[in-house]
Amino acid sequence: MTSDVPSMRATRTSDDARRLALVGALALAACSRGRPLTDAEAVARAESALAPFKAELARTLAGALARGPDDAIDACATRAPELARAASKDGVQLGRASDRRRNPGNTVPSWASSAVADLARAPRDGEHRVVPLPGGRAGYVETITVKAMCLTCHGEAVSAPIAARIAARYPDDAATGFREGDMRGVFWVELPPGR
Ligand code: HEC
Repeated sequence: MTSDVPSMRATRTSDDARRLALVGALALAACSRGRPLTDAEAVARAESALAPFKAELARTLAGALARGPDDAIDACATRAPELARAASKDGVQLGRASDRRRNPGNTVPSWASSAVADLARAPRDGEHRVVPLPGGRAGYVETITVKAMCLTCHGEAVSAPIAARIAARYPDDAATGFREGDMRGVFWVELPPGR
């Protein structure tokens, strides 16, 4: 009889220990989860992460176009992904994506697909959406529209030499046939939680 008591106590103690461990794990999870950003914070952080990337991209494209479209295609192909990687730091990831993409690496991230579909309903350059992500993280997507200078490589009448150059690098290119003002794709950003 008496031998039951300590064993029951032992059981209770290990239950308590398990409960404590669970509470501790939950508390830790809550800490590492961080505070979800407000929409306004997410927009501000995404815009400041994107600003240097956009500026570099525009400078690279303009400089390369001045040297000729061949050079510009090479610059887009190599520099654009490099610039996106370089701008992805401090827990922030960013890039460009499109439903009609040239580079298969620029497929729309799955968390962004309904926001992108929403933006596509009435494309306006710079229009954006914030998407809450697991763990207190936030996603941001921003419309990129087609401007006149983009038509050289994304338009309806891409010259034969440029089309050939693009086809050689991107055999399943889906990024031509656009008109000025069309939605070309998005800038996307994934942001870490707030502290
Ligand atoms: C000289 C040709 C050229 C011009 C001009 C050009 N692009 Fe591109 N664009 C490319 C190439 C090549 C890629 C593929 C880059 C890569 O591999 O990431 C690309 C990719 C993109 C992507 C990423 C999604 C995808 O399809 O892979 C977007 C968005 C984009 N371009 C938008 C634009 C916009 C907006 C303009 C005008 C401001 C523009 N481009 C002008 C050649 C061009």
